[in-house]
Amino acid sequence: MSKTVDLSVKIGDVTLKNPFIVGSGPTVKNLDQIRAAEDSGWAGVSMKLVIDPEPYISLPPRYRWLKKKGYNIFSAEKRLTTGEGLKLLEEARKIVKDIALIPNLTYDGPDPEGWGRLAKQFEDAGSDIIELNMCCPNMSFNTETTGDSSVQLTGASLGKEPEALKEIVEIVKDSVSIPVLVKITPEGGEIAKSARACIEAGADAVGGTASRLGIPDIDIRNPMGTIFRLQSNITLGCLSGPWIRPLALRDIYEMRSLLGPNPTLLNSGGIHDLQSAVEHIMLGADALWICTETMLRGFAWLPKLIDELKQYMSDMSYNKISDFRDLLLQNIKAAKDLKIDEGYAVVDLDRCTSCGLCWKIGHCTAITHPVKVTTIKSKTCMGCSTCVDICPTSAITMVKKGDTE
Ligand SMILES: Cc1cc2nc3c(=O)[nH]c(=O)nc-3n(C[C@H](O)[C@H](O)[C@H](O)COP(=O)(O)O)c2cc1C
Ligand code: SF4
Ligand code: SF4
Repeated sequence: MSKTVDLSVKIGDVTLKNPFIVGSGPTVKNLDQIRAAEDSGWAGVSMKLVIDPEPYISLPPRYRWLKKKGYNIFSAEKRLTTGEGLKLLEEARKIVKDIALIPNLTYDGPDPEGWGRLAKQFEDAGSDIIELNMCCPNMSFNTETTGDSSVQLTGASLGKEPEALKEIVEIVKDSVSIPVLVKITPEGGEIAKSARACIEAGADAVGGTASRLGIPDIDIRNPMGTIFRLQSNITLGCLSGPWIRPLALRDIYEMRSLLGPNPTLLNSGGIHDLQSAVEHIMLGADALWICTETMLRGFAWLPKLIDELKQYMSDMSYNKISDFRDLLLQNIKAAKDLKIDEGYAVVDLDRCTSCGLCWKIGHCTAITHPVKVTTIKSKTCMGCSTCVDICPTSAITMVKKGDTE
């Protein structure tokens, strides 16, 4: 039995009962979804992006989930108008009791003050927290990247610009009294500096990663086609899911390292189980957005993850999320300070089937196979460990110099 642990997290003066928020996207577009998320114990919903005055790119959704490659990609997505977003929020406000409603907003008008007016409308309609979308790479950032600069800058185009972020966050903070959360992009390569600008401008929380822009798999026998169904050509697509996790972990690490322990930080990117959730927290996240996994599996898997998290925390003697938040920061050293142990690979011939896979490793001169018997010269072995990963029968292990085999 796990002892009682506290999963709650604060964003400004709003307390979330646990760190799990449904990330803005296609699973937070209607009332049934919000109700289902609440029923499954999610702490919050970042509702689908609203673009004001008009969603200037909004198309029927086209997604591919490439399970073997571990990535989800979308080329087209429907956004909400201000009217649709307000209606959804007002209706949700009437029925939900125990889940934070967090509209995800973008203003695309000529004057930055419009950000404040939009946020105020959503505060008045019942939001618990305002989330500014400074992350979507599929709008103006996409059009910029593909050579068109005809639209106002929004999403990732703004999220990589600390000065623009500062101005907008200050306007929004002056306009509303509920907490303001900013979701920023790593696309500019300096997510931590963008995060710092938001916090300095008064944001109550900042978080990152969202989707990254990439090119989907291509059918090389039909390169003018597309792997997307019901679509005739391609555009740069938004990548999410497990593939993105190592990059997302770096983002939260960079943000927490630069900002220190005080600001509230969120993160997203490939979270789908206990391991991935704890990794994000250990690198600095207070709370987590999850999107792709809710597209693939709905919401009802969360209670199991919450039970696992409670058990894990109890096993590890962590009473609250902050007890293990940032823990990994001290384990990440500069490349020059990396400590390498001397050692070499050994093969257990009882397990070796002489399949020959390790004999082919291009960078290895230590493995030979006289009369098909795998032999590893410990003196020549560099200790890289590729052979351990390649061997299908787990016949190879690494031995630290000085330890007995
Ligand atoms: C189809 C799709 C639509 C998305 N739409 C939004 C959006 O409207 N606003 C937003 O801030 N993030 C949006 N995202 C980004 C997700 O909320 C999330 O940050 C990102 O996908 C990484 O997390 P994940 O790996 O759990 O999906 C979308 C992601 C996907 C896959
Ligand atoms: S650890 Fe690297 S160098 Fe050593 S035997 Fe294996 S592949 Fe070769
Ligand atoms: S990969 Fe493993 S099983 Fe195959 S030859 Fe090498 S040690 Fe033997």
